[in-house]
Amino acid sequence: KAKKKEANILCVGLDNSGKTTIINKLKAPDATQQDVVPTVGFNVEKFVTSSLVFTVIDMSGQGRYRNLWAHYYKETHGIIFVIDSADKIRMLVAKDELDQLLDNQNVKAKRIPILFYANKMDLRDSLSAVQCSQILGLDNLKEKPWNISASNAMTGEGLNEGIQWLSDQLQ
Ligand code: GTP
Ligand code: MG
Repeated sequence: KAKKKEANILCVGLDNSGKTTIINKLKAPDATQQDVVPTVGFNVEKFVTSSLVFTVIDMSGQGRYRNLWAHYYKETHGIIFVIDSADKIRMLVAKDELDQLLDNQNVKAKRIPILFYANKMDLRDSLSAVQCSQILGLDNLKEKPWNISASNAMTGEGLNEGIQWLSDQLQ
C-alpha cells in the first residue's frame, strides 16, 4: 500500500477560541472531551485521515505567544485559523492577527490553503460563518484558497467538512 502523503498544518487563532479542543476531537473523535488548559507555547499533534497524515502545530493564542506563529509559516502546507464566533468583542483583534499573518512574506510566498473554523456555534450569541467571514474581510482574500466552516468542537459538529476541504487542497 502506498505511503500516505504527509502535511504540516499550523493551527492559530486567539486564545480561548478552541484550537486545542478542535485538535483533540480530530485526533480522537469518539473520546469524550477532556478538560483543556490554555496552551503554553505550542504542542505538536499527529492524526491520520483516509488520505493524509497530518502533523499539526497547535499554537498558543495568548498575546505574549502570538509572535511565535510566524516562526512556522515557512514550513507549513496549510493553516487552520480558529475563531470564537461568540467573542464579538475580540473579532477585530482576530482580524488584526489574520491581517498580520497574510502580510507575512513566508505566507505571501506560496499558495497556502487556509481553513477557518467559526467555532462555538453552539453558544446562543454566536455569529454565523458568513457573519464571521464578513467581519474578517474574507471576501477580499483572493490570493489564497480558503474555506470557513461553523463548528462545535465539543461535539465535533462541522469539523470534518473543514478537514475534508483541507485534505482536498493538499492532494
Ligand atoms: P489557547 O491554547 O489559550 O490559545 O486556547 P485554545 O484556542 O486552544 O482554546 P481551548 O481549546 O483551550 O478552549 C477554550 C475553552 O473553550 C475551553 O473551555 C473549551 O472547552 C471551550 N470550547 C472549545 N470549543 C468549544 C465549542 O465549540 N463550544 C463551546 N461551547 N465551548 C468550546
Ligand atoms: Mg490551546
